[in-house]
Amino acid sequence: SLPKKVEIIEVGPRDGLQNEKNRVPTEVKLRFIRALQDAGVSEMELTSFVSPKWVPQMGDAADIMAGAKRTGRPFVLAPNERGIADARAAGAENIAVFVGVTDAFNKKNINRTTEESMKQLAPQIRKLKEDGLFVRACISTAFHCPFEGPVDTERTVSLCRRFAELGADELSVADTIGMATPEESYRLFSRLKEELPDILLTAHFHDTRKMALANIFAALQAGVSRFDTSAGGLGGCPFAPGATGNVATEDVVNMLERMGIETGISVDGICRAVDEVVSHVSRPIATGMYTLYKNG
Ligand code: HMG
Ligand code: MG
Repeated sequence: SLPKKVEIIEVGPRDGLQNEKNRVPTEVKLRFIRALQDAGVSEMELTSFVSPKWVPQMGDAADIMAGAKRTGRPFVLAPNERGIADARAAGAENIAVFVGVTDAFNKKNINRTTEESMKQLAPQIRKLKEDGLFVRACISTAFHCPFEGPVDTERTVSLCRRFAELGADELSVADTIGMATPEESYRLFSRLKEELPDILLTAHFHDTRKMALANIFAALQAGVSRFDTSAGGLGGCPFAPGATGNVATEDVVNMLERMGIETGISVDGICRAVDEVVSHVSRPIATGMYTLYKNG
């Protein structure tokens, strides 16, 4: 049976903007974040403490932390010890670490093999948990890798298990390049629910091949009730060739609410948030619900 309520984790200010070539002014990002909060978003990735040489768009992470209202559960991403220290210095209490299942992707993204990343992150995660912080583990290339091809389900499950053993509170399991099918979504999320029933399990779909809504429905059937989505369908990882945006928050919220599943989020409110950034992003925003909203 499907859940009555679903938690949406808005990733627009982070995944949505990190791949944008135009530098989006910090003030605009803060207005975007505020409008998303006004729309009812309570969990959101605000920014990431990564190298500004690698991802210049996220170079204002400390200013975002200083300027954003911190309601609900605001996340920041951090790839390593330096990023975690900077995030904590900026007051972050919910840290998202990220690792790819495949070495080829992980090397392109954070310049380490998966094993090297795990070795560096393990003591960091233990320390964060000792200090009472919330740890979210984002698992990239959980289904397919742009360099290595299809990824075996058990490989993903075993990486997820390691994060659970380290004490992570949440797994956000990602179809980085939007290649998973609903059958693959159902299979992996069913396995993860069976293997790790006690961890918060979140699905993160990119919509490259327009299968993300179908994949969400499949994940719901597998027992998942948390989804990462991005207002306007913005998003993409600069180091994952061929990946386009995340599944759009407004389209996911519309689908779920129409199915009688509560999200606490207003579709119009999300569209108003998109209005704050639309003129600053270089890609057209043509999601179902934003198009309807614009056409009155
Ligand atoms: P590196 O070059 O190997 O770093 O990059 P290093 O450890 O050798 O350090 C080199 C320099 O960078 C040093 O400075 C460090 O201090 C500095 P220098 O001595 O040269 O002056 N440095 C940092 N500066 C700021 N913040 C930091 C930091 N760390 C080191 N945290 C590194 C390694 C991890 C830093 C780099 O590869 C990086 O920043 N990668 C981030 C890539 C990224 O942001 N990707 C997108 C997010 S993940 C994603 O989108 C996927 C997801 O959505 C799920 C999905 O869809 O799959 C989550
Ligand atoms: Mg992503």
